[in-house]
Amino acid sequence: MTTATRPAPLTPGAGRGEGAPRSDALVVFGFSGDLASKKIFPALYAMVKRGTLAVPVIGVASSILGNDDVNQRVRASLELAGPIDDAAAFDKLLSLIRYVSGDYRKAETFAALKAALGTAQRPAHYLAIPPALFETVIEGLGAAGLAKDARVIVEKPFGRDLASAVELNAAAHAVFPEASIFRIDHYLGKEAIMNLLYFRFANSFLEPIWDRQHVASVQVTLAEDFGIGGRGGFYESAGALRDVIQNHLFQIVALLAMEPPKYQGYAAVQSEKAGVFHAMRPLAADDVVRGQYDGYRQEKDVAADSDVETFCALRLWIDSWRWSGVPWYLRSGKLLPTNAAEVLVQLRPPPQKLFDDAIPNDGRANYVRFKLQPVSAVALAARVKRPGKGFVGDQRELYLCEELQGGETPYERLLGDAMAGDGALFTSQDAVEAAWAVVDPVLADHAAALPYAPGSWGPAAADALIAADGGWHELAPEAPPARCD
Ligand code: BG6
Repeated sequence: MTTATRPAPLTPGAGRGEGAPRSDALVVFGFSGDLASKKIFPALYAMVKRGTLAVPVIGVASSILGNDDVNQRVRASLELAGPIDDAAAFDKLLSLIRYVSGDYRKAETFAALKAALGTAQRPAHYLAIPPALFETVIEGLGAAGLAKDARVIVEKPFGRDLASAVELNAAAHAVFPEASIFRIDHYLGKEAIMNLLYFRFANSFLEPIWDRQHVASVQVTLAEDFGIGGRGGFYESAGALRDVIQNHLFQIVALLAMEPPKYQGYAAVQSEKAGVFHAMRPLAADDVVRGQYDGYRQEKDVAADSDVETFCALRLWIDSWRWSGVPWYLRSGKLLPTNAAEVLVQLRPPPQKLFDDAIPNDGRANYVRFKLQPVSAVALAARVKRPGKGFVGDQRELYLCEELQGGETPYERLLGDAMAGDGALFTSQDAVEAAWAVVDPVLADHAAALPYAPGSWGPAAADALIAADGGWHELAPEAPPARCD
């Protein structure tokens, strides 16, 4: 008699990479780029400090850099993030780094990389480069024999529409098996985002009210109080919809909307999340409001007549048994009044108005609020009676907040997972393509981006989009308990 093997449990390291050999080198393409200096060097330093990175790190980029330049760049990047508090770890990191400069289109670049890899047999190649170069580098790796037993970690956005995502998946599969392809969405490595999955399925009280009968609408906001910085070139080819909505915000929606995983394993989570993307109704032009902050066209590397959106708000429908008829509102923008990410799950009001003030003007008597950034918190809102003879109450929140200091940063977590072969927090081909299919119709068919003033909440049309559901909720100012801010 044969016995069925139990699937891997939902514990770190227990994804498809269980028992897989660790990568014995990390290759970072785009070593001289913005992403590397902002996120990757600090992550590598943290990994060395934690003792989870001790293999060679080979940086590849087109800039010609000597050892001193490389060291200087790494130091400057770390100092921007905070003081270098562990000199030994810093020296160790520098000792692990080797640098190869070259054109990604030339075979000699990959030959030089091969030489720099020395005896390493199982490198992880991380593509922290503009999406237009992904295929070139993947093909270069294949042609140079550098894909054997290797992994490839691909930054988002994975493709720029459905057709290019399908093409990129095909190009990647021509060189790497799916199990060796790690599509990064760093939101999936954030503690507050992982808590969405945990909070939903580690508790039983939410499930009975988590559906169309009890939820009136859901809104998700990712607000940033800064502009595009020096990333004009990248941003012109992306815009808010491609840059953060099709990936970061959709991942949040998927975790909130997914059905309970059918068994205890990450594969079940992945498949239920992909199910949400498949159930999303493709967007129509009037579901979307695009905005552009005044002054964007004067940014470096931005076209003088650019129509690229730096703000995007949309109304989304998930045509599933659970969510039919519930609108999901998503918005994100640069140069908004605050820097915060938050979800508000608006519950339906009580069916009978027994007390005059039981339903506030915005209809928000009861809701669940997930604060994702800058702190992680969950708030359950309810009305509570004021002392006295009258039946008059106040709106209160039961506020659960988490201190997340000291944990791994998303890139530290995700690079470590990919090097260990653990794909649990990465997106699958199916999910990526299904998510593109939702936004594809509006990538070309949309109204012109509307101007908005820096420091405002985007164009007024974004408010009109959600007016029937009580408007966008206020993200700031607020006064959370002292421990939480
Ligand atoms: C990146 C986008 O993926 O995510 C940026 O390219 C955005 O435009 C960033 O600012 C937001 O992520 P985080 O972790 O910095 O809030």
